[in-house]
Amino acid sequence: MQIYMPTNIYSERNCVRNHKRELASLGKKALLVTGKHSSRRNGSLEDVETALQEEKVPFVLFDGIEENPSVETVMRAAELGREEQVDFVVGIGGGSPMDAAKAIALMIANPQEDERILFAPKELQALPTAAVPTTAGTGSEVTPYAILTLHSHKTKQSISHKIYPRLALIDSRYLKTADQETLINTAVDALSHVLESYLNTNANSYNRMYSEKGLSLFAELREELMMCRRQNGNPAAVLSDQAFERLMQFAVTAGMAITHTGTSIPHGLSYPLTYEMQVPHGKAAGIFLPGFLASYQRKEEVLSVLKRMGFASLEAFTAYLDELLGKVEIPEGLWIEDVKAVLSNQAKLKNYPFEIGREALYAFRR
Ligand SMILES: [Fe+2]
Repeated sequence: MQIYMPTNIYSERNCVRNHKRELASLGKKALLVTGKHSSRRNGSLEDVETALQEEKVPFVLFDGIEENPSVETVMRAAELGREEQVDFVVGIGGGSPMDAAKAIALMIANPQEDERILFAPKELQALPTAAVPTTAGTGSEVTPYAILTLHSHKTKQSISHKIYPRLALIDSRYLKTADQETLINTAVDALSHVLESYLNTNANSYNRMYSEKGLSLFAELREELMMCRRQNGNPAAVLSDQAFERLMQFAVTAGMAITHTGTSIPHGLSYPLTYEMQVPHGKAAGIFLPGFLASYQRKEEVLSVLKRMGFASLEAFTAYLDELLGKVEIPEGLWIEDVKAVLSNQAKLKNYPFEIGREALYAFRR
């Protein structure tokens, strides 16, 4: 058994300001990587800029990261980073900017290479990175993973390199401006991480500490998430400060869980749906969780996760997710291709502890 968690994590109010010295100590010039709007709206970008200014560390901003960032965007940002001779990268936002920051840090540090090395099994170093999450879902602030959109393959794929952020600065205040859909979908992403990690070939009693903690955090959050759905409005009007904190903790714990095990079939099935139908990542993985639990052969483990989440049966869990996420109609042709893609995705299949065939996978769509 092995446990490895090299990211230095701070989670508190005013986290960026409180730990500005550690942020600044990562290098002499920073590339800040973010999207167009949300990091401005929630104050995270301003906090990072102020922290670096106060520590007299210059920086340049790349704010062109789209949702599900592409290899092309990563290469454009890396070019800016090289021109500006930055020596560390800060990802600010949801999973997209944080994942992109890791890939950008790799490409800046290896100017002799082109984008093909992102998906090649080659030993390479990346520049140091820091992560400032503003959604509670991906856990990218504590994982070594970076998922990019590959337009050439019409899907999303994890890069081959494991790049842990050196520093994660987590402040749940940034969550408060998230809209209802983002908040729910990202929380379901974290739920997928917890379940796919617990019911995983690589699960052991050390790394299950994370998924077990995640399951009990979800049990505390599930009614509040449903309240957000039913009230159909601004989450900040529904959730308490403690709920926002718990959501952040849930996502971080879930990220730590998949750091040790990887994800499994629901994530594998989700990528073509996001690419072809623009279904948000968490929702695209979450709709397959009932099928995943139903197919899992060690039923006592399934009962254990249901109980930890506070559900009396798989039917109750399925009804909850159906109401929280709504239905996604997957066209037959896309579904056939999706199942075929997962059956040839060794990275995901090896994390599922049993043999699984086309018929069984086909039943994941309801
Ligand atoms: Fe995910």
